[in-house]
Amino acid sequence: MDATELGNELTKVLYTEAELHARLAEMAREIEADYSAENPPLLVGVLKGAVMVMADLARELRFHAQMDWMAVSSYGTGTKSSGVVRILKDLDADLTDRDVLIVEDIIDSGLTLSWLKENLESRGARSVRICTMLRKPEALKVEVDVAYVGFDIPVEFVVGYGLDYAENYRNLRDVAVLAPHVYSE
Ligand code: PRP
Repeated sequence: MDATELGNELTKVLYTEAELHARLAEMAREIEADYSAENPPLLVGVLKGAVMVMADLARELRFHAQMDWMAVSSYGTGTKSSGVVRILKDLDADLTDRDVLIVEDIIDSGLTLSWLKENLESRGARSVRICTMLRKPEALKVEVDVAYVGFDIPVEFVVGYGLDYAENYRNLRDVAVLAPHVYSE
């Protein structure tokens, strides 16, 4: 769906579908320059938010792109920023000597990705890099080395292009700011 279909549920569109796709194409060219067709990276998507980025990035790449998926969840407090991560669905692939590219929709506190990068490195991967469509630099709680970033955004409640509020809005084509009345109701 498009932002126009959501009436007053959004306060503004940050990036349109066209802008997201244009930036993804640039990122794909950077990735192609850093890897090779003989040795393409294994793309690891983190469910569920990364589904849209993965689908578009993988198709944009001009070399074979194998995909694998993980689902993770924070332990304990229920807040996703605890930094302690539980694996709900693990990879199918053996990472030994693989070049891994983690594909994410957003880096917020950085805690999930910091943990995940270390976890995948410990499995014997040759390299582990991170690609994210969005990042909130002002929300970072830990340093995360991110190789490819689509857009740095302010600390606002954004939805769309995979990002949800209560599991809705993931299928919004654009990235938009959610109106406060939606989540404070
Ligand atoms: C989002 C995003 C990252 C994580 C980033 O996933 O996809 O995995 O949060 O947050 P952090 O930088 O603060 O650790 P979320 O937990 O919302 O799950 P979802 O992808 O299923 O929506």
